[in-house]
Amino acid sequence: MNLISKPLSLAIVIGAAAIFINMRAAYAAAPAELLSGYTSRSGTLASSARGREFFTSKHGHEWSCASCHGAVPTQSGEHAATGKTILPLAPAVNAERFTDAAKSEKWFRRNCNDVAGRECTAAEKADILAWLLMFKP
Ligand code: HEC
Repeated sequence: MNLISKPLSLAIVIGAAAIFINMRAAYAAAPAELLSGYTSRSGTLASSARGREFFTSKHGHEWSCASCHGAVPTQSGEHAATGKTILPLAPAVNAERFTDAAKSEKWFRRNCNDVAGRECTAAEKADILAWLLMFKP
C-alpha cells in the first residue's frame, strides 16, 4: 500500500467501526471498540477472510483455534484436552464475548501461545475479531 492510501483506508475502517458501534450499541459496543483498537494498533485493514484462515489452520503446533472452539463460531466448541464445552465466540450469539478487554487479552495470549507458540499480533487479533463479528444470530 502506498503512503496516501494507507491512512485513508485506516480512516475508512475506523469510520466503519464507529458506525458499527452505533448500530450495535445496545449489546455489542465493546467488541467493536476492541476491534477498532486492534485495527489502529496494527495500522492495516482487518480481514475477516484472513481471520477465518488463521482460526481454522494449525500454526506449527498440535491444535488450531478450531480444535477447541470449533470452526463455526456461532456454535459451542469442546476443549481438545478436557472435553469441556466452550460457549460460542461470536458476539451475535454470546453477548458476553469481548465485553471485557482484560479477559479477551488474557485468553488471546494463552491460546495463541498454545496454538502458535507466540502471542498473536494486533493484526491477527483484528482479523479474528472481524471474522467473529460477521456472524448473525
Ligand atoms: C486448548 C483449547 C483452546 C484452544 C486451542 C484455543 N482456545 Fe480460546 N479459549 C479456550 C478456553 C477454555 C477459553 C475460556 C473459556 C471461555 O471463555 O468460554 C477460551 C477463550 C477464548 C477467548 C476469550 C473471548 C472473550 O470472552 O473475550 C478468545 C478471544 C479466544 N479463546 C481466542 C482463541 C484463539 C484466537 C485461538 C487460536 C489462536 C484459541 N482461542 C484457541 C480454549 C482454547
